[in-house]
Amino acid sequence: MNRARVVLDRDFVVGQVPGRLFGSFVEHLGRAVYGGIYEPGHPAADERGFRRDVLALVRELGVSVVRYPGGNFVSGYRWEDGVGPRNRRPRRRELAWMSTETNQFGTDEFVDWCRVAGVEPMMAVNLGLRGPAEAGELFEYCNHPAGTALADQRIANGHLEPHDVRLWCLGNEMDGPWQMGNLPAGEYGRKAREAAKLMGWPDKNRSSTPLPECEFVVCGSSARGMGSYGQWDQAVLEECFEQVDYLSVHSYISPMNRSVESLLAFPETMGTMIREITAICDAVAARRKSRKRVNLSYDEWNVWYMERPQPPFEAWAEAPPLLEDVYTLADALCVGGMLITLLNHCDRVRIACLAQLVNVIGPIMTRTGGPAWRQTIFHPFAQASRLGRGEALRHVTESPAYSCDGEDVPTLATAAVRTGDGGVNLFLLNRGLASPLRVSVELRAFGAMRPARWSIVQDADLSARNTEQQPARIQPRPHGGATIEGGVLTCELPPASWNVIELEPVA
Ligand code: AHR
Repeated sequence: MNRARVVLDRDFVVGQVPGRLFGSFVEHLGRAVYGGIYEPGHPAADERGFRRDVLALVRELGVSVVRYPGGNFVSGYRWEDGVGPRNRRPRRRELAWMSTETNQFGTDEFVDWCRVAGVEPMMAVNLGLRGPAEAGELFEYCNHPAGTALADQRIANGHLEPHDVRLWCLGNEMDGPWQMGNLPAGEYGRKAREAAKLMGWPDKNRSSTPLPECEFVVCGSSARGMGSYGQWDQAVLEECFEQVDYLSVHSYISPMNRSVESLLAFPETMGTMIREITAICDAVAARRKSRKRVNLSYDEWNVWYMERPQPPFEAWAEAPPLLEDVYTLADALCVGGMLITLLNHCDRVRIACLAQLVNVIGPIMTRTGGPAWRQTIFHPFAQASRLGRGEALRHVTESPAYSCDGEDVPTLATAAVRTGDGGVNLFLLNRGLASPLRVSVELRAFGAMRPARWSIVQDADLSARNTEQQPARIQPRPHGGATIEGGVLTCELPPASWNVIELEPVA
């Protein structure tokens, strides 16, 4: 029997888990918006066209913040097209995904949807084909109270109160040759700085009236595989360090042409990326002798079957079915591992967005005109969002390891969160595909605890999926057998399993 040991101490803390760690992303791409969150005429749609069945799943998923409207889409987007009377909104060629954008859903609908869903909007501005001026205008439309042309336009469009959007992304993946308006790092850094300046003015230091505190996310390199990885991040930050709060990080892992062992190793690479990019942020601060810390916004992460041939679709179609990956149990285990990495680095990753939310590489699937259901990856996310709130604990883990892609990968991945009521929630991934793993967790200085619940996601078939016909093929189920004696929890994790064990204090 393989064995692993974890040591926890109640005084060893990574940091408070930010609610924004459990964000997601809705892009005007495929059926994410149209047929996803918005489908007027659907039997479950409300009077605004928002699908109530999808809203219920979004709430159950526990999403805190949603990034919008892209993604690659944003770099060609004219936000003005998506506001005002719907019958006057233009239809446009959308070049990022070769679709027709009808603009029936835009900024006002998105903010309304966020309020109904109970999530915070995270708005991206177009710094690809457009620039600081238009970004400033969108900011004014959203956040200026009244008395200017754009604020009054919002009011005329039925929104008396400002949208009060606090989180702003300064473009998307601007280092990518695939990006409309792709720029060299220095040029982009200056463009982002000027946009943040316009949007941040007048700031609280120059105003006698209280103003909302807005935060800005600047684009980091869009993948570790980019030749400019690291250099781009540093060069961008040198231009706009004072104006921005977060540097974005993106990563996707494709299960295609890859073993399950290699897929499950990816959360370790994600940890490496977080440490590398954090070091670059701090190096830029050090050169300036600045105490300011630029944190990370991991605002696109997921499993994505990137090389999967897309089913043929008509060019310039409205909301064609794009990137509709159907996830396996193995993918859900990988997503669980990625959540563990985010929790363990939550002192510097202060925002994270699972990309995306509905239909497009999403935890939620719908059929246009039909039902909505949970993909396999829905479950670890929902559990982490519900039970990963509190203080993430530092831990020492001794685990057997396997060799994969030239690295030693620990069989056990762990995160631990101390909850507000004195309990501890453990997230444990056994990456061993063939053997169970006997884990002991030393609980130092916590007082008497007992295992209250153990929920497991596991199945003999790692390729099992949830579908419209079998929407609950993979879901968490209760598990038993954990004991605590002398302050040590002992449990046996089945092979290839995602486990959440809730410990509660003994009164
Ligand atoms: O999430 C799908 C795409 O992946 C986004 O549009 C882009 O930002 C990234 O490359």
